[in-house]
Amino acid sequence: MGIIIALACDHGGFSLMEEVKKHLISTGKDCKDFGTFSQESCDYPVIAAPAAHAINDGTCDTGIFICGTGIGMSIAANKTPGIRAALCTDCYMAEMARSHNDANVLVMGGRVIDSKSAVEIVETFLSTDFSNEEKHRRRVGMLNDLDVIRKG
Ligand code: RB5
Repeated sequence: MGIIIALACDHGGFSLMEEVKKHLISTGKDCKDFGTFSQESCDYPVIAAPAAHAINDGTCDTGIFICGTGIGMSIAANKTPGIRAALCTDCYMAEMARSHNDANVLVMGGRVIDSKSAVEIVETFLSTDFSNEEKHRRRVGMLNDLDVIRKG
């Protein structure tokens, strides 16, 4: 069985998400869509939270979140434990986000990149594995313990 991808966007990401979703469906990907479902203005934290939780609790395996810039969705997604959301504007960032950071959410800006670039970024993100190098495992592990590190 394939992976389940959580999709989340606000009105600023809606058009690009439509294109991304079309591509994912046409390539046989299994998606769980958390909205939004129109251009009508909405609040990105409200959309991001349930989608991020679905990844954290294992309902979904990974996520693609889109808002106007990608910034709000990134901030919101990264509030959820277990989420490593990476805002990517090109394929190099998407590759590094998976390979070095083991990112489990790809974030893009619907007002920042075109749909062709977005589809390439999505494909890179989904097809790149975590490097599993010791130094990257250690650093990703530290992300779960940032409070401990801060307190010394
Ligand atoms: C909505 O206008 C816009 O602020 C939102 O999509 C996003 O870019 C926020 O970070």
